[in-house]
Amino acid sequence: MDSDLRLLISPEEISKKIREIAALLEKAYVGKDLVIVMVLKGAICLTADLIRELDLAFDIAHVQCSSYGAKGTQRGELTVMGLERLTLEGRDVLIVDDIFDSGNTLATLTKAIQEKKAKSVKSLVLLHKNVPHITDLRPDYTLFDIEDLFVVGYGLDYKERYRGLTGVYVLENPKF
Ligand code: IMP
Ligand code: MG
Repeated sequence: MDSDLRLLISPEEISKKIREIAALLEKAYVGKDLVIVMVLKGAICLTADLIRELDLAFDIAHVQCSSYGAKGTQRGELTVMGLERLTLEGRDVLIVDDIFDSGNTLATLTKAIQEKKAKSVKSLVLLHKNVPHITDLRPDYTLFDIEDLFVVGYGLDYKERYRGLTGVYVLENPKF
């Protein structure tokens, strides 16, 4: 393990929160046509663990969003891939993403999915970063609120590294 990684949220804390959120989702989506839209790549761990706790019928779809690219921690243009092949009309969509930071990704995706005539569009994120957001929209379900730190693990990367860590870590000295 790199010495510049500091554990922020343990795997046990994540599992506990996922069970709590799964219980809320079961109540909210029972009898509905739920489509979980996973935002790759960051939501891979959260989605994989969440669906194993959900006692509910659902479909899974995915889109791929990228805003940092290979530049690491410097934000670039948001690209969304895979929306065009999703059939969401009349369905209850839950977007699952890794982190709500500027809010650009969730705001852009929510609008695009509404335009595809989904019956409802809600969102769930692992982390909500305490920074100014560019949108009034907020995630409907948040597992953890964090300060303005650059974090990795449990799906989150720095230049495509660290996604497979089982907890969330602060990367102390990212080289920009
Ligand atoms: P947004 O600014 O809310 O659109 O967030 C865009 C994306 O930036 C997230 O889905 C993450 O992939 C990435 N991101 C934001 N903050 C962090 C971080 O602290 N570590 C790793 N990725 C991050
Ligand atoms: Mg990323």
